[in-house]
Amino acid sequence: MEYFVPEETIEEIRGCFNLVDIISDYTKLKKSGRNYMGLCPFHSEKTPSFTVSSERQLYHCFGCGAGGNLFTFIMSMENLSFMEAVRLLAERAGVSLPERKLSREEKKVKVISEELLKINDLSMKYFQSVLFKTDVGKKALSYLKERGLQEQAIKKFHIGFSPPSWDSLKKFLKNKGFSESSIEKAGLIVLRSDKSGYYDRFRNRIMFPIFSQHNQAIGFGGRVIDDSQPKYLNSPETPVYNKRKNLYALNFARFKMREKDEIVIFEGYLDVITAFQNGLENCAASLGTSLTEEQAKVLRRNASRVIIAYDSDTAGESAAWRGMDILSSAGCRVKVAQMPKDQDPDEFIRKRGITVFNTEIIQKALPLVDYKLEKIHESTGNSTFNTPEEKISYLNKVLPVLADIKNNVELELYLQKVSNQIGVDLNTLKSELKKYKLKKNKKSRGSAQDDIVPLKKALKPPAAEKQLLILMLKSKESVEEVKKHLDASDFIFEPYRLIVEKLYALKDKNSDYSINSFLDLFTDSETKKMIVSLTMADNIDLDNCEKVITDCVKKIKRYQLSLKRKEIEGKIQEMDKERDAGEIRKLLEKWSELKRLEKDIVPYRRE
Ligand code: CTP
Ligand code: MN
Repeated sequence: MEYFVPEETIEEIRGCFNLVDIISDYTKLKKSGRNYMGLCPFHSEKTPSFTVSSERQLYHCFGCGAGGNLFTFIMSMENLSFMEAVRLLAERAGVSLPERKLSREEKKVKVISEELLKINDLSMKYFQSVLFKTDVGKKALSYLKERGLQEQAIKKFHIGFSPPSWDSLKKFLKNKGFSESSIEKAGLIVLRSDKSGYYDRFRNRIMFPIFSQHNQAIGFGGRVIDDSQPKYLNSPETPVYNKRKNLYALNFARFKMREKDEIVIFEGYLDVITAFQNGLENCAASLGTSLTEEQAKVLRRNASRVIIAYDSDTAGESAAWRGMDILSSAGCRVKVAQMPKDQDPDEFIRKRGITVFNTEIIQKALPLVDYKLEKIHESTGNSTFNTPEEKISYLNKVLPVLADIKNNVELELYLQKVSNQIGVDLNTLKSELKKYKLKKNKKSRGSAQDDIVPLKKALKPPAAEKQLLILMLKSKESVEEVKKHLDASDFIFEPYRLIVEKLYALKDKNSDYSINSFLDLFTDSETKKMIVSLTMADNIDLDNCEKVITDCVKKIKRYQLSLKRKEIEGKIQEMDKERDAGEIRKLLEKWSELKRLEKDIVPYRRE
C-alpha cells in the first residue's frame, strides 16, 4: 500500500478519536448491549441495523453489509482516498503529519494541477459574468430560459457563456498572470495551425463546467445556441480532467444517491439539469461516451441500483450495452428505462412532468437482461416464433445474454422465460446453453487442454473457510496453527484467499498488528466489509480452537477433493464415449485416486 505516514502516526490519529463519537455526527446511535446501534448512514432503512463496536472501534451494517473502521468511515462519508482521510483527521486531531517528500516529478504535477484548477475556476467565473452581465450573454440567457432552465439551476450548475471572440478568454487569463502554455494545458486555448499563436477554444457557446467530486471545475462542455456544428465542444483530457473517471453532476448528486441507494444515469447535461430542477437529484451523466470501469466503480460506491435513462436510440447501441455490462460487473443492479422515440429525458420531463417521468419511465425500467431480450426480440420484428428458423435465429442472439448471467436462480428464471416464449423445451435450452458456453470457453482458452483439473472458483464462501477466517482474525495463534495445514491457495473463495495471504505474510514477518491496522492494508472496500463482518461475528468458541481448526481443515481438504472429482465427472460427460475412450479411462483412474484420498481423511464428526 502506498502511503507515507508511518504506522505510529496512523495509530496516534486513530487513538485521538472514538468511532462512536465520529459516527454520531452522521447518525444517531443508541447503546445496545456492548454495542451501539443506529440507522445506517449508507443506505436508507427504517429499523436500525447499523452497529458500532466501541471496544473494537469498528462498524458494521447487517442490512447493507457496509463495514470498516474510522478511516473507511470518513473515506466513504466524505468521498476521500485513504491519505486524504488521514490528512483530514490528523488536522482535526492536531497531529502534525510528516511533510511527505514529493519526487521532483510529483511536485511538478502538483504545481501544474493547482494552476490548472485555478485557471478553470477563473474561466468558469468569467463565463458566468459574460452570461449574466453582458449584452452578448443576453441571447444565451434567453435561450436557456426558453429551454425551461430557471435562474436558480443556472447558478447551481455555474452555467456561463463564452463570447463570440477569438481571444477574450486568453486576454482575461493572461491579465491574471497565466502563461499561454498553462492555459493551453487547461484545454482552453488552441494553437493555430500555422503555429502563429493561440485562439480561444470555446467561442459563442453555453458553457457547462464539469466538476470533480470535490466541486472543483475540471473541464467544460460548450453547446452552441443555434444549429451550427458541432453541437457540443468539450475540454480535452488534461492533468486534472480524466474523462474515464468523472461523471457530470456527481458532485451534486452523490449524497442523494447514497440516501436512495439508486442512481439515474442520463446522457446529456441538460437532462441532468432539468431533472435536478424538478427534484430528481440522484442523477448524473456519462460524459458523452459509454460508461467505463472507473466510472462504474465510483457509482457502485454510492449506490447499488442504477437506472440507465438514455435517449431511445443510444440505449440500443452496442457501446451503451457494453457500458451497462460494465456496471453490472461492478456489482450494480442495472435497469434500463425505455424512452419514447425521439424524446430525451429533458424534453419528457418538461412536457409531461417529473411525476409521470417517475412512474412511467423510472419505475417501469426493465432489468438489464429483460431489456436485452426485449430488444433482441424487437430486432427480429417481434417474431411470433412459428418456424424453426425464427426460433433458432432468436436463440443464437439470446444465448450470449444468458451465458452472462452469474446467478443460478436468475438464470433458471430466464431460461424458463425464453422456453415459454419460443416454445422450446427447458432441458433442450439448457443443453444449448451448455454447448454455447463450452464453445466460447474453448475459443477464449485456445485449444490447449491439459489434464490439470481447474478448481472452480467458489461463489459463496464454504462454511469451514469462514470459521477458520473468523478464528484467524481473532487470534494470532490460530494463524500459525492453520498455516501448518493449509496454503492460502487452499481457500477457494477468492476474497478469503486474499485475506489469508495477508495474514500469513504478517505472520511470516512476525509483525505486530491490530485488527484495525490490518483493515488499512486493504484498498478494496468489499474486502474491508468482509473482514469487519467476520470480526464482528460472535458465534465462535475460542476455547475450543484446536478442535475447530482440525475439523475445518479436514472439511476443506475433503471438499477440495470432491470438487476435483466433480470437475472430472463434468469433463467425462462432455466427452465422446468411443472417440475419447483412452482419455476417459485416464480420468476415471484419477477420479478413483481422489475418492480414495477423500476416504482417508477421517470424516468430520458432528456432536
Ligand atoms: N455530446 C458531445 N458532443 C456532441 C454531442 C453530444 O459531447 N457533438 C455529449 C454531451 O455531453 C451531451 C450528450 O452527449 O450532453 C448528449 O447529447 P445530446 O442528447 O445530443 O445533447 P443534449 O445535452 O441532450 O442537448 P440538447 O437537448 O440541447 O440537444
Ligand atoms: Mn437532449
